[in-house]
Amino acid sequence: MEVPVISLKDLNEEKPGDEMAKMDQAMKEWECFQLIDHGVPGDAIDAFAEALKVAFKAESKTKATKESTRKGVYDNKGVPLLVLKPGYNAQGVAVFGIHNTDEEPPEDPEPADWVEQMLLPCLPNVGDPTSNWPENPLGVREKIQNYVMEMQRLAEKLLRCLAVNAGLKPETFIDAYGGSDAAAMMMVINMMPAVPAGVTTLTAPRHRDINGLNILLVVDGREGFQVMRNGKWCSVNCVHPHALLINTGDLMEVVSNGRYKSLLHRGLNCGEARLSVAAAYSPNRFKVIGPVRDLIDEKNPRLYKEGSHADFQAACKIKGVTCSEYFGI
Ligand SMILES: [Fe+2]
Repeated sequence: MEVPVISLKDLNEEKPGDEMAKMDQAMKEWECFQLIDHGVPGDAIDAFAEALKVAFKAESKTKATKESTRKGVYDNKGVPLLVLKPGYNAQGVAVFGIHNTDEEPPEDPEPADWVEQMLLPCLPNVGDPTSNWPENPLGVREKIQNYVMEMQRLAEKLLRCLAVNAGLKPETFIDAYGGSDAAAMMMVINMMPAVPAGVTTLTAPRHRDINGLNILLVVDGREGFQVMRNGKWCSVNCVHPHALLINTGDLMEVVSNGRYKSLLHRGLNCGEARLSVAAAYSPNRFKVIGPVRDLIDEKNPRLYKEGSHADFQAACKIKGVTCSEYFGI
């Protein structure tokens, strides 16, 4: 079984055709799909990924050591810049910022290896988010900036397509996110180290993303990304070196009144070191969100109440509250 592949050049929300129907089917059956022909040049992606690998080495040297930064490195506003976290073995599941695990973490989990994680606030463009980005190698900030612009273009296009497939006006979800200028994007960059032959580590335990729309780039192979389908884990097989994996998260489930589900997934690590970059596109943090009214009727009763995105994320991270516990009626 293959995670469906959707070509962006054939997606036309103004004249919905076969590819729009295929995307809708993929969302219903898989809650995710691979996106190709997305218009981000392959050589730009390669150069971006190479620059990030160098940035990881530079940040690790200048700002962190594995022994001293278990909790990460923060700027003076408390924004995390670089987090080093243990990647637990198959029995260990406690990982920064992730919820909905139904496997209890062991009391004293044994780290099998380390995952280095960089969290870059990218949007909205308030107070110069680039000041928190890595400075080395030369030009890395421009590469990140270009990638952010491409991800925003893709996120808005996909939100328009998702809205039309739900029977809504194209801009409905973009407006529900607070509009182009206010929507939030956090880039989550994971550097997963090589592991010895025959060993598999869990870099992200089973979880649902607490954001809106996730656009994932896995560099150097993606066999470690698994999605849950019909009660079974399915590996995402790479169809194209620059394909992007698209999935919806908790906030999209709320805004769409459950039409688009938050994908259950996990990350494994085996073999060579690899890099992944997730662009998490979400409603503005201070916006009160709730189901779009046009998706509520007699046949589809309201499933979620309104709430603040920022309060929900804080409740998730501090108390481990799930989306249905926070927003559920
Ligand atoms: Fe995730």
